[in-house]
Amino acid sequence: MSEPLLRLDHVSKTFARGGFFSRRRIEAVKDLSFTIAADKAEIFTIIGESGSGKSTTARMILGIERPTGGSLQFDGLDVGALNGHADRMRFMHAVQPIFQNPFEAFNPLKQLDRYLFLTARRFGAARDQAEAERLADEALRKVGLSLAEAKGRFPHELSGGQLQRVAIARALLSNPKLIVADEPVSMVDASLRMAIVNLFKALRDELGISIIYITHDLATAYSISDRIIIMQKGEVVEAGDARAVLAAPQHPYSRQLREAVLTPDSPRALAS
Ligand SMILES: Nc1ncnc2c1ncn2[C@@H]1O[C@H](COP(=O)(O)OP(=O)(O)O)[C@@H](O)[C@H]1O
Ligand SMILES: [Mg+2]
Repeated sequence: MSEPLLRLDHVSKTFARGGFFSRRRIEAVKDLSFTIAADKAEIFTIIGESGSGKSTTARMILGIERPTGGSLQFDGLDVGALNGHADRMRFMHAVQPIFQNPFEAFNPLKQLDRYLFLTARRFGAARDQAEAERLADEALRKVGLSLAEAKGRFPHELSGGQLQRVAIARALLSNPKLIVADEPVSMVDASLRMAIVNLFKALRDELGISIIYITHDLATAYSISDRIIIMQKGEVVEAGDARAVLAAPQHPYSRQLREAVLTPDSPRALAS
């Protein structure tokens, strides 16, 4: 078997909290192991209620937070100990984040097209302005927008859903292999959520990008996931093929998942 793209091997994260006399240890993530294959793009979903350790997991995968136990390997790199400029750059190109609030991801005073041009120059292959414009337009079209629509616009002039699309376009400019999306639609209108998560399917199928999709939204999770892990209090309580988890839910949380996708609101989920 070939090396996986991403491997989490018994990863843990413990935070120390409180004062000298009341110091507590918070085990945000306990003994988490999974892999993402290198040869086949997939949508791997981490689902769980608030405080279950999802964002801490995302931040460790992104190299923002170091594990206190275990190891993370991405494409031959030790994520917990990236050394040297070349390794850091390779990692930053290959693993791109999408966060919950797109308005925090952009400088409010900078026009979106200029921001994308800068990113294309810095991260992409653009050598001049014309090429930066072409790459920005290409990336925006992959998310259902165009450069003409972004031209001269500031972040606050777009809706949350539109701006999240721009954030995805920006991520695409570095040709990532993996996107880590931490609750990317929880601030987006319910009616637009499915359209955005369906973009992830297109990135998987057409560009071969794997997605780690973090959510507590059961309907979108079921609709786009290949595999699911369910986390509770830092631990995985259920894991497997998304449909298998649904067909034979063992855990109360996965039973809720089943009920949520059986509601009349999401009849397409089961039909697909
Ligand atoms: N920087 C931190 N310092 C102390 N505790 C933290 C920190 N980040 C997260 N935690 C704690 O770790 C647990 C998991 O948090 P988090 O990963 O954000 O969960 P989720 O994203 O599933 O809501 C929570 O109890 C949270 O309070
Ligand atoms: Mg979170």
